[in-house]
Amino acid sequence: MAKSKTVFFCQNCGAQSPKWVGKCSSCGEWNTFVEEVVHKENKEDVVAKLSSAKNKNKPQLISEIKAGNERRINSQNNELNRVLGGGIVPGSLVLIGGEPGIGKSTLMLQIALKLKGLRILYVTGEESNQQIKMRVERVGSTNEDCYILNETSTRNIFLQIEKIQPQILVIDSIQTLHTDIIDSSAGSISQIRECASEMQRFSKMTDVPVFLIGHITKDGGLAGPKILEHMVDTVLQFEGDRNHGYRILRTTKNRFGSTSELGIYEMRSDGLREVANPSEILISQRDENVSGVAIASTIEGLRPMLIEIQALVSSAAYGTPQRSSTGFDLRRLNMLLAVLEKRSGFRLGVKDVFLNIAGGIKVDDPAIDLAVISAILSSSEDITIDQKVCFSAEVGLSGEIRPINRVEQRIAEAEKLGFEQIFISKFNTKGLDTKRVSITVTPVAKIEDVFRLLFS
Ligand code: TYD
Ligand code: MG
Repeated sequence: MAKSKTVFFCQNCGAQSPKWVGKCSSCGEWNTFVEEVVHKENKEDVVAKLSSAKNKNKPQLISEIKAGNERRINSQNNELNRVLGGGIVPGSLVLIGGEPGIGKSTLMLQIALKLKGLRILYVTGEESNQQIKMRVERVGSTNEDCYILNETSTRNIFLQIEKIQPQILVIDSIQTLHTDIIDSSAGSISQIRECASEMQRFSKMTDVPVFLIGHITKDGGLAGPKILEHMVDTVLQFEGDRNHGYRILRTTKNRFGSTSELGIYEMRSDGLREVANPSEILISQRDENVSGVAIASTIEGLRPMLIEIQALVSSAAYGTPQRSSTGFDLRRLNMLLAVLEKRSGFRLGVKDVFLNIAGGIKVDDPAIDLAVISAILSSSEDITIDQKVCFSAEVGLSGEIRPINRVEQRIAEAEKLGFEQIFISKFNTKGLDTKRVSITVTPVAKIEDVFRLLFS
C-alpha cells in the first residue's frame, strides 16, 4: 500500500514541521502552519526521462565549461532585455510577480508573439484558448511558432513538451500547476514548491528558458514560499498604479545581471508599449510656467531620467498643518521642511504642504532633494521656476547642498532633453568639465544660494 505522510508547512516561508506549531520558528509568523499530505512513493520522474539524453551529470573542470554569456536570446523587447541584464539566458528560470490585472499575462503573451523563429509553448491554467486568442487579436500580432496549452498538470505539460520541443516555456501561473507526486491541492505551498522545482530541473537540464508567472499577496510579497524566490534565477516585479497607464518592471533578484534595472511600459488598448524615453512621460506637458513645479534629474538603475516634482504650499486651514506626499518618502519630506524652517528661516511650520511626483512613479534617489525644496519654495513664494531649469543634488541636515553620484550622466540627460540650466552641488564640480556641455551648470553650496539665484 502506498504510504502517505503528512507534514505541516508554514504558508508564509515554507518551513516544515512534523507537527503543528503556533509560531513559525524560521520566520516568526503566528498561525501559519497548515497540514499537507506528501506522498513519498516513487512515481516515475517525467523530467528526468525527458532530459535523460542530455543528462550526463559528472564533474567538469571550470576550464572545460563553456561560458554561456554570449548566447543570450534577444527577447525583441528592449525593456525586458534590460531588466534581465541583456537578454534571456538559456536555461534560466524567471519568476514574474505582480498584482492581479497589472498585465503579467499580456506582457508574456506579447513577448511570446514577438519572438519569431523560436518555438514557444505558453501554458495557461487561468484562461481558455479562446480568451488567449481574443487577447492575441487585441495586441494585433501573431506568431506561427507559438503554441498555447491549456493544462495544469505538470505530467501532461511535460508530455506535450516532449512532443513540441519548445525553445521557450511560459507558465501562467505557477499557482495553478499541480504535480501528482504530491497530494495537496494546487496553490498550496508544497505544490508550488514541487512544481517550481520540476520546472527548475527541466530548464537546467534542457537549457530551455522558463518564465513563471506568480501571484502576489495582499502585502505585496510573492504568494507561495520564500523558497520559490530562492529557486529561480531571476525575480521580476511588475508594478504600477492602476490609475496610471504606466507599468514598471523591476528586478528584485538576478543571478545574471544587476538588480537595479528598471523597464517601463505603457498599457494601452492594444497591449503594452515599451517606453524608451521615460522622461517624455514623466514630465507633464504645459505651455506656461506654473509655480510649485521643479524638474529633477535622477537615475534609476543605470538609467538617467528627468522627473517632475509638484508641490503645493498653502496656509493650514486647521490647527495642525497637513503633510502629504505621493511617490516620495513622507519622512524625508518632513526632514526637508524642518531643514528649510530651521536653517533657512522659511516659516513652513504653519503651512499645509502637498508633494507629488508626476507620472505615478516612486523615487528614492536622494538626488531629487534639491528639486523637492525648490518646488516647495516656488509654491510657497508663488514664483515660477523656468521650464528649462533642472536640479540634481541632495540636501543635508544643515542645509548644505550635497554631492551625488554619476553627476555627468545626469547632466548629459538634462542636456539631451533640451534643458538650459542645471543646479548641482558645489562639491560635485571637482574634475567636471562643464565647458564640453552646452547646458549651464550652476554649482551651489547652500539653500540660500539656490533661493537667491532662482527667485531674485
Ligand atoms: P492581464 O495581463 O490579464 O493581467 P494579469 O495577468 O497580471 O492578471 O492584464 C489585464 C489588464 O490589462 C486588464 O485590466 C485590461 C488591461 N489591458 C489593456 O488595457 N490593453 C490590452 O491590450 C490588454 C490585453 C489588457
Ligand atoms: Mg493573468
